[in-house]
Amino acid sequence: MEIVPFAAISGDQRAQAAAILVSAFAHQPAAWRTLDEAEREVARFFGDPERSALAAVENGRLIGWIGLIRGYDHAFELHPIAVAPEFQGRGVGRALIGALEDLARRDGALSLYLGADDDFGGTSLFGADPFPDLLTTLANVEPVGRRHPLGFYRKLGFALCGIIPDSRTFCWRSGFSRASARPGCAARPGGRG
Ligand SMILES: CC(C)(COP(=O)(O)OP(=O)(O)OC[C@H]1O[C@@H](n2cnc3c(N)ncnc32)[C@H](O)[C@@H]1OP(=O)(O)O)[C@@H](O)C(=O)NCCC(=O)NCCS
Repeated sequence: MEIVPFAAISGDQRAQAAAILVSAFAHQPAAWRTLDEAEREVARFFGDPERSALAAVENGRLIGWIGLIRGYDHAFELHPIAVAPEFQGRGVGRALIGALEDLARRDGALSLYLGADDDFGGTSLFGADPFPDLLTTLANVEPVGRRHPLGFYRKLGFALCGIIPDSRTFCWRSGFSRASARPGCAARPGGRG
């Protein structure tokens, strides 16, 4: 498997990137339902200087991809990440995150953040009232099953840093600095992973 920038992928691989959005998020009602929607999302990562994307390619086939949005000067958003269902659990997601962190670090990011929706019952937050003690709720969020990426992100060193209660959206942050980073390994604050 190799990881290449979107600028280097073929038309066929671009179509595969869209198809993966539909198949990888099939369990999530609010995600990309049609190829048209997914193709529009993929297109947003071409020709926009604020956005970059990297593709995992194996034997010419695009099997996963990840996007970066330079939303703030030193805090970039990871959006989206998707691995073809039949290639999940083989380290592709981990490799994509590592490559994206390298890219973000080179471009001056000090942290990465992301939002992960739970509109399908993938965490203990689904259907629950997070109030009155929002912070205790936040401290005790756990995945339900393995559909939600919470366990994946925790494994890779991300920490839960907030929720948007009514949309059941998590926000995550992975702080790292160029000064303390080792090659291929983002320095992460304690308590993660
Ligand atoms: C989340 C996703 C990108 C992970 O990619 P992947 O290639 O399957 O993950 P990897 O194989 O690299 O897993 C890395 C580690 O995380 C663990 N992991 C992966 N998914 C996990 C999950 N849902 N819960 C707990 N741990 C998980 C793996 O066991 C592995 O641990 P190990 O290194 O100790 O063996 C992939 O499952 C996916 O595309 N999901 C659907 C789309 C999605 O939810 N994207 C995120 C939206 S915010």
